[in-house]
Amino acid sequence: MPPDAAPGRAGAAARRRSEQLRRELTEHNHRYYVLDQPSISDAEYDALLRELQELESEHPDLVTPDSPTRRVGGAPREGVEKARHSSEMLSLDNAFDEAELRDFDRRARELAGLDELDYVGELKLDGVSMAVRYVAGRLELALTRGDGETGEVITPNARTLRTLPLAVGEAALEAARVADTFEVRGEVVMPKSAFAELNRRQLEAEEKTFANPRNAAAGSLRMLDARITASRRLDFYPYLLLDAAGQPLFDSHWASLEALAALRFKVNPRRARLRGIEQLLAFRDEWIGKRDELPYEIDGLVFKVDAVALQARLGATSKSPRWAIACKPRAQQAETVVEEIDVQVGRTGAVTPRARLRPVVVGGVTVSRATLHNQDEIARLGLQIGDRVLVERSGDVIPKVVRVVNQGPQRTPFEMPSACPVCGWPVAREADEVVARCNNASCKARLKESILHFARRTAMDIDGLGYWLVNALVDGGLVDDLADLYGLTVEQLADLTKETKVSPTRLGEKSAQRVVDALDRSKTVPLGRFVFALGIRHVGDRTAELLAGHFGCLDAIRAASGEELEQVEEVGPRIAESVRQFFAADRNRTLLDRLHQAGIRPSESATAASAAARTPEAPIPLGTTFVLTGTLPTLTRDEAKRLIVAAGGKVTGSVSAKTDYVVAGESPGSKLRKAQSLGIEILDEQALRALLATEP
Ligand code: IVH
Repeated sequence: MPPDAAPGRAGAAARRRSEQLRRELTEHNHRYYVLDQPSISDAEYDALLRELQELESEHPDLVTPDSPTRRVGGAPREGVEKARHSSEMLSLDNAFDEAELRDFDRRARELAGLDELDYVGELKLDGVSMAVRYVAGRLELALTRGDGETGEVITPNARTLRTLPLAVGEAALEAARVADTFEVRGEVVMPKSAFAELNRRQLEAEEKTFANPRNAAAGSLRMLDARITASRRLDFYPYLLLDAAGQPLFDSHWASLEALAALRFKVNPRRARLRGIEQLLAFRDEWIGKRDELPYEIDGLVFKVDAVALQARLGATSKSPRWAIACKPRAQQAETVVEEIDVQVGRTGAVTPRARLRPVVVGGVTVSRATLHNQDEIARLGLQIGDRVLVERSGDVIPKVVRVVNQGPQRTPFEMPSACPVCGWPVAREADEVVARCNNASCKARLKESILHFARRTAMDIDGLGYWLVNALVDGGLVDDLADLYGLTVEQLADLTKETKVSPTRLGEKSAQRVVDALDRSKTVPLGRFVFALGIRHVGDRTAELLAGHFGCLDAIRAASGEELEQVEEVGPRIAESVRQFFAADRNRTLLDRLHQAGIRPSESATAASAAARTPEAPIPLGTTFVLTGTLPTLTRDEAKRLIVAAGGKVTGSVSAKTDYVVAGESPGSKLRKAQSLGIEILDEQALRALLATEP
């Protein structure tokens, strides 16, 4: 049969359409994953992808290896295949403090014979390194670092990473001034949010959880079944651009990073050109200070001599280059003994084990407790009471047990209690859950945690309602449920005493008044925050916001059926069922009625559902649609959004013909251009405030 007569062979129109779809999808992918500036909605993207999938399945001859539909991961690999690196993948030497960093700079200056050196400062992403080869513009081979000389072939897995181009086109090659055959090395990371979500899913499916994002990235990337890699969010950040022989392509490192961006890789924007040691120290302090705000984990900074000619002069030791250094905060670890394992009861009744440690100073802070997550984690560590362990503090999080160093001479295995240590109710592990729970809704431990959650800054924001006060209120019998908080008087609160090391201290009138004022203020929080504050299982702040935005008022959420709840963006059957169950429970209905009687009136969200309740003098028509882009002079994105929503408007992520206004600040993205091309009115912060009639 001649090829043209083959069944399903595509005509010219289908071919043109598939090429166009591929181009558009690749472009949207780049905007979304690399630039963080999507210009179409997820639904629009999905529609385009589906159209291409359908075209390709009707006409298999249209499929190309770099089609965006090929990011799903093919059939599992048979086993591990290895390949040699083009040049050795070196690792970095470490500097653990200022003196060691100064030493590095001094040695480099001496070897270079210069008084001052130019460096590039980068973040040291805590992930897995990967080398990727492009031949004739196409991604051909991806390797793990392995032993530095030989790595494991992980090409099918790498192809599922949205931030890694499957092919680099002529235009990009020209813009970057790079030939079509080259190699990129960089780090594969799992963002913190994706890690948390993955562990949540693993827990739910009773699969093993990962200890940290690096392990999760490593495990996901090396899966024999690349379809699993595809289901996890991994990002690739390049840090070296090399020729086919594994040698630098440009004469400065900075230039190669710029070329990588022109080739459409996601080059980390958190980088800087630095001159001299003082600037290195400043860069280090800045990012170590901000590491908790980053979307991914870092384990330090990297400084590289910028000039490639100098790099060559400085050379390398057997393991690491002399022209680069990793600057790491000293590990915040120490050894101590686990004296006891007790359990903590959370807001949802989850009973989690916690290690009581012989107090030890870790990174300047005395630590006496560490989380152990669940019984599986204790089993994984092989931990028993009495063992000597290594504990670690990272950032502000609660310390954790890294591993058992020595087994204790008299060790006792830990057993999960069969009764709640606080209320005595049986502790049960349901068939579909990994965690054990106390199901007594009136358990005091649960009540305390619920109050602490309710009072959080992102929930009801009740300043001053902290740990000891909540203990005192619940243990003293002043508060039996959340609604009781609103009946508290300044006199009652002022008399409560806190046990300190010296002597018991009264809370006092001033602090008591502050708590009562904060409680009063909280009565009109936005609906989304109130829904979040209720602590419904599986409903985080974002879901709460979406529920509030969709239904507009609490009564509508209370009355919604499972089906109606599932209409809400990002709400699936599990969340819908949890919300429905929460509002169906007599106990919660009574609580909500009591909160209402206590004067709680969450400010309702401006949607069609609450239109009737709005006053006619609203500054903008209800549902007026805004898109935000760039940095505003005084308002954060969240603040701007809150003002808009409070005035009855809504904020969407992408500009379309339905957008009423685009609010643009400094360094606006492509949204501004799109708005201009659609003739949409553009506002700066001042004009936005004027429109919404708010004072700065
Ligand atoms: S440069 C010859 N830059 O840290 C220079 N490495 O031991 C090679 N890493 O396994 C590395 N972020 O995977 C460089 N911005 C960065 C990095 C980085 C993370 C990893 C790299 C390597 C380890 C260094």
